[in-house]
Amino acid sequence: MWKRLLVVSAVSAAMSSMAMAAPLTVGFSQVGSESGWRAAETSVAKEEAAKRGITLKIADGQQKQENQIKAIRSYISQRVDYIVFSPIVEDGWETVLQEAKEADIPVIVMDRNVSCDPSLYTAWVGSDFTEEGRNAARWLEEDLKGKKFDQKETVHIVVLRGTSNASATLGRTKGFAEIAKTHPNWEILDSDDADFTTAKGREVMEKYLQKYKDIDVVVSQNDDMTFGAIEAIRAAGKTTGTGGDITLISFDGTRSALEKVKSGVINVDIECNPLQGTYIQEIINRLGDGEPVDKINYVEEKVYTQKNVLSVLGDRVY
Ligand code: AHR
Repeated sequence: MWKRLLVVSAVSAAMSSMAMAAPLTVGFSQVGSESGWRAAETSVAKEEAAKRGITLKIADGQQKQENQIKAIRSYISQRVDYIVFSPIVEDGWETVLQEAKEADIPVIVMDRNVSCDPSLYTAWVGSDFTEEGRNAARWLEEDLKGKKFDQKETVHIVVLRGTSNASATLGRTKGFAEIAKTHPNWEILDSDDADFTTAKGREVMEKYLQKYKDIDVVVSQNDDMTFGAIEAIRAAGKTTGTGGDITLISFDGTRSALEKVKSGVINVDIECNPLQGTYIQEIINRLGDGEPVDKINYVEEKVYTQKNVLSVLGDRVY
């Protein structure tokens, strides 16, 4: 009898808590769809929300900060439960984030950073872009060991930068430069913005190839620009990668680029992990349960070369 009563009351408690818990609505302001990496980040966010029955509203900022600000304002007026956004640039968010705070809507910043009062957002999830830049330079240090360049001949380097003032661009540039300046024979010939797109990567690389006869290393701050650079380099009659004319360092680690690491066309790919939606859902769960969350959350990232790329290619979903 007691047992039956307990079961009945447990079931009815569960049912009434289900009836009380309205499904959450999350407003997500995405940067745009400039890269394969970005597409992966968006689809992971969708999958995670679907798994948990969350209504996810997504606004594509089309690489414009004003579109992102408009989207955040619209989420505030719709009274969503959480706002998640991936900021195109670091500056200029204070006013809109203050508005979200006044409306009592928690904001989770994703992927890139914002440079404003940290009390204006609840948590941040993303990459250590400076460490990614250092990882690229550390790999190059190792790769040059024992080669003709080692401490003697000049290493001529060109950089394809991402979007101007984006954290991914600033951090990767800073991290690489920190180590590069400790090598007097590393010469950075040029460093130009190519907006994280294939078309721009090709265009800037074509310009570099016309301007500089001797390029030893290309540091391309994402895979999409790397694909454009490869096209330009091939059109100029040169080769890249293992045993090629030009050493190619890329960032992101998307499946199609890792295939090129495997075949030796790209020497190294510094991973930027787009599976941030999973971390964000965990944060939302904790906040919903009234538990504390860490303010800063770094995602895990690795470095891929021909030596270890096979270990990841089989399961790579993006
Ligand atoms: O902010 C992350 C960067 O943005 C990725 O490296 C790039 O592919 C994307 O567009």
